[in-house]
Amino acid sequence: MCGIIGITRAPVGDGSGRSDVLEVLLEGLGRLEYRGYDSAGIALVGPDASDGLWRARAANGTRSLKDLTKRAEDAPELSSAGIGHTRWATHGGPTEENAHPHVDCSAGLALVHNGIIENHVELADELVAAGHRLRSETDTEVLAHLIEVAVSDHPEIGLVGAVRAALGRVRGAFSLAVVCSDEPDLIVAARRVSPLLMGVTGDSAFLASDIPAILGLTRDFFVLEDDQMAELRPGSLRVTNFEGEEIDPQRITVDWDLEAARKDGYDDFMSKEMHEQPKAVADTLLDRLLPDGTLSLDEMHITNAELRAVNKVFIVACGSSYHAGLMAKYSIEHWARIPVEIDIASEFIYRDPVLDPTTLVIGVSQSGETADTRIAMEEARRQGAKVLVITNVVDSSMARGSDAVLYTRAGPEIGVAATKTHLAQITALEILALYLAQARQALSPHDARVLFEQMGVLPDKVALALERSADVEAVAATYRDSPSFMFLGRQVGYPVALEGALKLKELSYLRAEGFPAGELKHGPIALVEPGTVVIGVATRTPIWEKMMSNITEVKSRGATVVLVANDGDEETARQADAVLWVPETEYLFAPIIDVVPMQLFAYHLARLHGLDVDRPRNLAKVVTVE
Ligand code: AGP
Repeated sequence: MCGIIGITRAPVGDGSGRSDVLEVLLEGLGRLEYRGYDSAGIALVGPDASDGLWRARAANGTRSLKDLTKRAEDAPELSSAGIGHTRWATHGGPTEENAHPHVDCSAGLALVHNGIIENHVELADELVAAGHRLRSETDTEVLAHLIEVAVSDHPEIGLVGAVRAALGRVRGAFSLAVVCSDEPDLIVAARRVSPLLMGVTGDSAFLASDIPAILGLTRDFFVLEDDQMAELRPGSLRVTNFEGEEIDPQRITVDWDLEAARKDGYDDFMSKEMHEQPKAVADTLLDRLLPDGTLSLDEMHITNAELRAVNKVFIVACGSSYHAGLMAKYSIEHWARIPVEIDIASEFIYRDPVLDPTTLVIGVSQSGETADTRIAMEEARRQGAKVLVITNVVDSSMARGSDAVLYTRAGPEIGVAATKTHLAQITALEILALYLAQARQALSPHDARVLFEQMGVLPDKVALALERSADVEAVAATYRDSPSFMFLGRQVGYPVALEGALKLKELSYLRAEGFPAGELKHGPIALVEPGTVVIGVATRTPIWEKMMSNITEVKSRGATVVLVANDGDEETARQADAVLWVPETEYLFAPIIDVVPMQLFAYHLARLHGLDVDRPRNLAKVVTVE
């Protein structure tokens, strides 16, 4: 959940002008802030060994990068290589001492790291006993000192050999980049589990943990795989395994441009990304509905025979991805008639789940890097289940570690709150539900065609729901001073309520809880008193009447009621103090539309409170630790 960038570049012009290594690093860090913003730091070396190493760090929450940029005014005019890091604190608080890059005792080498060194305590004890001075509480710093030990024991192995030797001592996950003033045009990188991409153009070579950070430099990337190292020099790249054998790195080309990773004139990424939802849904549907009205998911490389052999589906995910899974549970059971279990990944891992080769385990993760979900997928594979991953990130750790992948096509999401990736996940899961039904002949061709056609118009309906943003803002303004909110839904409306509550808590820091409306009388109704704001999902489903009875129950206890209702449904509107209108659709697809006013409500309420919607406190976009 930290961001890494590095670049080595031949000095510009005749070597006397200012090099732009620093500018590339700062710009890249700006695009990595969503990976964490507890601190930011850079280290520069070169162009001569005698120039030494220059480092600056800042730890000031969302102002970290601003502060770092100010400090960088004192950076040397000319440098040949540099590394940068944005941090989301895990080991050690969000302080400057704990900010990356970390250095060795002589401050001649610097290192940035993403991941966790599991045996850092024993290594730190050993290093301190040998006279090393560790200055931070991080797990990362031991690596800098281990490299220092390796270089001083065997100077002939150079930085590459020393990094290799140091990594031989550690357990855990890492992507890292190291620079050293003695080899001033070299960056050494390594990967185990945490992702790292590299690029080479002209007289430069660069790397990053995430594509947007270096998308301005190239669209062609080399992927560093697990247990590989890379040596980056100006204009060249050499990849080896940990034994030092040279490897041809895998190459990928992305079709996003830099604009896709910028705000496009919106006030914030969240707004931009919410408005990209019709496209995210449309793109995720693209090519998967064939002109003859059937579905094609050949890309998963799972045969119909294999799908027919599935006896149970197990969906595993976290946060909004879990809610997407919960929404799909209803569709898979209803259409494909396969029992579906669903669990939060961190619970699944330790509950000893019963799986076998006839179980299809579906991991849902926009990032494809979430530690809990990744470990759950590994456990499922260990038990012999077939593992399918639904993710937005091509070549992510989960995509690479599964039997099959179904990609959502939402493009990069920068805002910490999942919006367009969430809608794309629900869409992909609904396609999968219909595909399973098709493979198992659980749906008649006529019914399947009608449903596929309805999916085709979902992007327009999502766009209509978004057009009501100003109306939702007016409702949010009415209730801006409410200290807490209760979200209610039944059946497919229940996960919509959970998602509404999650969005509101993460963006507004207000108490917001989602409940199945039918469960009210078993406890939660005790929370309702005059003035309690209840937000109910009351779009038309087969159990709409039951939902409305629950709304009557809270109203009779004095609750103020805001209802999500289908356009023109005055019968529902009469029961509400305020209405969030949405277009109607087949009820099992309704979450794709009904969740939109929930996102808008949370977004507007947070802005009315003057909060940063893109970078909510205490949260990171990608959670790569358990
Ligand atoms: C959503 O708004 C959250 N930021 C969070 O719950 C997120 O959905 C969760 O951490 C899972 O992430 P993933 O989809 O990348 O696995």
